[in-house]
Formats: sequence, structure tokens, C-alpha cells
Amino acid sequence: MPFPDPTLPAPPAAPQDLASALRLAIDAASRFRGATAPNPTVGCCLLDAEGRVVALDAHRRAGTAHAEAGAIAQARAAGTVGRVHTVVVTLEPCDHHGRTPPCTEAILSTPARRVVVGAVDPNPAVAGGGAGRLARAGLDVLMADGLPGCAALADGCRALIAPFAKRATTGRPYVTVKQALDPAGSMIPPPGAKTFTSEPALRLAHALRRRADAVLTGSGTVLGDDPGFDVRRVPDHPGRRRQLAVLDRRGRVPAAWLERAASRNLDAFRSDDIGTALDRLGAAGALEVLVEAGPAVLESVAAAGLWDEWVVIRKGRGAAPDRAEVRRRGGAVETLELS
Ligand SMILES: NC(=O)c1ccc[n+]([C@@H]2O[C@H](COP(=O)([O-])OP(=O)(O)OC[C@H]3O[C@@H](n4cnc5c(N)ncnc54)[C@H](OP(=O)(O)O)[C@@H]3O)[C@@H](O)[C@H]2O)c1
Repeated sequence: MPFPDPTLPAPPAAPQDLASALRLAIDAASRFRGATAPNPTVGCCLLDAEGRVVALDAHRRAGTAHAEAGAIAQARAAGTVGRVHTVVVTLEPCDHHGRTPPCTEAILSTPARRVVVGAVDPNPAVAGGGAGRLARAGLDVLMADGLPGCAALADGCRALIAPFAKRATTGRPYVTVKQALDPAGSMIPPPGAKTFTSEPALRLAHALRRRADAVLTGSGTVLGDDPGFDVRRVPDHPGRRRQLAVLDRRGRVPAAWLERAASRNLDAFRSDDIGTALDRLGAAGALEVLVEAGPAVLESVAAAGLWDEWVVIRKGRGAAPDRAEVRRRGGAVETLELS
């Protein structure tokens, strides 16, 4: 679960093999997770014939250049586009006119001979489009899944677009639950406190917020803790606004509280049903929602099987560091030590 700062480092000068180039593209894309909705996060690394990085870029925000087009524009500006030999991209290039021209055309405007695709486009309307077009134009199109040493990276590419895939196929955002537990297994902070976890654990919680397009909570949490729900402990994507859905069937959360959330870049609304809230968030373009709620809402989410990723932050006993356990639906638990 990478949470790098949302800035791109300079690429390495040494030649890269395809797996390393795909890793660079994944890392570049990961930095912009939470910034691109309703578009997917995508990274692209252009290599010359010797494997040296010609350009590395990611899709940064809807309406701006896609990763491939951005990397190609970078190479063009640097006068190095003539060296492009291989395009390594985390998601199949698009072949349709949206807010920007098709990436297939941008690639075909370069001397590229080979394209490595990390994940196929999950959008049912366009699946297979870009890869097929490039192959028909004579480029060697390789799926990362079939390349030596790239199986886990291909999984990483699919994980990167899981929120986009969920919304494209169901209309609802990818649901990540964050649940902090004390050593006794309780979610409730001691009297007078809002939290019981360490600073590294809080930074993880804020990084989870940063990668989400919306937060979903319950009236119990709002009335008990008055949480801000904004991204504070890690750098946020510039100018980012998020939605905030508050489950509140009895209307106990004051309208003034919902209005004040706007000053924290949150567009808050009340809902009396989780499914309806998720539909509304998906319709508004959210790819991922972070559930930050108390035991009552979490039980409902679990009982209805509405989650895609469940992150448990366990407070360490005594001086032991806190740990995070990340479970993706149908996947193994990944454990992170938070120190
Ligand atoms: N450790 C953690 O990770 C964590 C995170 C957040 C909060 N908390 C703690 O949790 C405590 C609050 O617990 P809580 O359980 O009262 O908070 P909650 O789960 O955030 O909110 C519960 C309220 O949500 C409303 N709700 C609406 N739809 C619901 C649904 N489908 N299922 C369940 N509830 C629904 C209910 O009020 P209506 O009947 O009026 O709709 C219910 O009383 C606080 O002490 C807070 O500090 C801990």
C-alpha cells in the first residue's frame, strides 16, 4: 500500500528493464491516487532502445493530459521524443475522444515500437480498444501479466485502478473502511479524547483520506467527536474538494455542522441509507470512499458486504508500535508496522 508524497521525483539515469520501468510508472501513478476522479490513476514511463528513461509522468487531474500524453509532451518539450522506443503504461491506453484526444494517437505520433500494458481498461464500453488499435498499427503490445517478473506488478496495476473499475462496473465507489482498535479490541477512545493511536497511525489515516474522493461517517461519530475529516497530517492534493456523506436517519446532526464542513473543502450531505449514499457519491464521480465511522455503521457495512478494502489499525500494547492490517476483498491480509 504505497503512500508517497504527491510529487514526482526525477527518474533514474541508469537503463531500466521492463519490470523496473513498470514499477516507476506505478509509483508515479500512486502519487496522484485521490486526485484524478472520475478518471483512473495512471502512470507512464517512456524508454529509449537501451532502456533509459526518456520521460515519466502520471495523470494528475481530470481534464489534464493522460499519463501517456503527458510523458510524450514532456519528451517533445525536451527534444527527446525521437528516442522513444517503448511505452510502459499502467493502464491500457484510451482510444476515444474524451476531454483529451486518444492516447493511442499520441503514441502513434512517436517512433515507439513497443507498448507494455499493466492492466486492461475495465470500462465495459472500451475494453480491448487501445491495445487492439496499437497492435493493428504494427506495434508490439505486451501485457505485463505475461512478462517475466511482472506478475506482481500487474496485480499492482489492477489494484491501482480497482476504484475506477468498481465505479465503471457498478456505479458505486470503491469502499475502504478504516477501523482503529485499542489492545482490548474497542473502537471507542478514552473519555475526553478523539483518538488513541500513534502519530504514524494518524498519518496513515490521513493518507487514506487523501487517496479517497469522499468520506462516509455516522451521526454517532459526528456528535461524539466533531471530526474535521480534512487531510492535515500529510500533504493533500492541491485544491482538492471531497464529499462527506453523514448517515443520520434521525436528523441529529445540525445543519450548521454540515454547512461548516464547506470551509474544510468538504461538500457534506445527510443520508438515511448507505446504499443511497454510495449511489450518490458514485454519480458525483467519486472513485473511492473512506468509511470513518463508529461501530454501528461499520457493523452495517460489514453485514451488507459493502466494503472492498478493510484497514484495521491496531494500537500496540505498551511501547509496541501500532500496526495496520489491510484486507482486500478476497485477498490475503497485508500487515504494516507503523513506526
Ligand atoms: N476507532 C475508530 O476507528 C472510530 C472511528 C470513528 C468513530 N469512532 C468512535 O465511535 C463512537 C461512535 O459510535 P457510533 O456507533 O455511535 O457511531 P457511528 O457508527 O459513526 O454512527 C452511528 C449512527 O449512525 C446512524 N446510522 C444511519 N444509518 C445507519 C446504518 N445503516 N447503520 C448504522 N447506523 C446508521 C445511526 O443514527 P440514526 O439512527 O439517527 O440514523 C447511528 O446511531 C465515538 O466514540 C467515536 O469516537 C471510532
